[in-house]
Amino acid sequence: MPLKHDALVDLLKQAYSAEKAAAFAYQGHAASVRNADEKKAIHQIELDEWEHRKEVLSIMQEYDIPVSKYYEFKYHVIGKLISFSCFVIGWFMPYYFAGRLESGNVCEYFRMMQYFHSLGITTHNQVLYDMGIKEKEHEIYFLHSIKHKKLLPFFEKLFFWGSSNSFNNVDLDKKYPVNESAEYCKK
Ligand SMILES: [Fe+2]
Ligand SMILES: [Fe+2]
Repeated sequence: MPLKHDALVDLLKQAYSAEKAAAFAYQGHAASVRNADEKKAIHQIELDEWEHRKEVLSIMQEYDIPVSKYYEFKYHVIGKLISFSCFVIGWFMPYYFAGRLESGNVCEYFRMMQYFHSLGITTHNQVLYDMGIKEKEHEIYFLHSIKHKKLLPFFEKLFFWGSSNSFNNVDLDKKYPVNESAEYCKK
């Protein structure tokens, strides 16, 4: 059954490939930190991203959506570049930009849910919810790691993300249930 929703199809293709970029980036990030706990936590996040890629692919396969060769190439290069850059830009920036990126990714899964709902499809609610919430957990992990660093207020002013700015409205302490979670990320 094909999906008659261009924006949703594109979002799925892009998310599938961007998850690979994230996983590559975390490989470099984990390798570049010295602290064993940090290494372990970042490696776990890498594994989560590979899992997301699998979940997104299985949704795509249900609707015969092909993988985009363009996005696969583009995000391969981006992921490898970020991975490499982690070794040269110090400790703070990879943490900061990972958190900032995760913050934006949260809404991608809730936006997909809204798009599916516009087609009357609710069967992917749970998996999209789980992925959106997982990205939020990733955001919070990175934020907590840097929240007492002196650089944070300065970066927050420049890049609009930090202790008091997020790109989503998910609150892990007061989560909506799955069936109300399409309310997240509505502008
Ligand atoms: Fe992910
Ligand atoms: Fe993530």
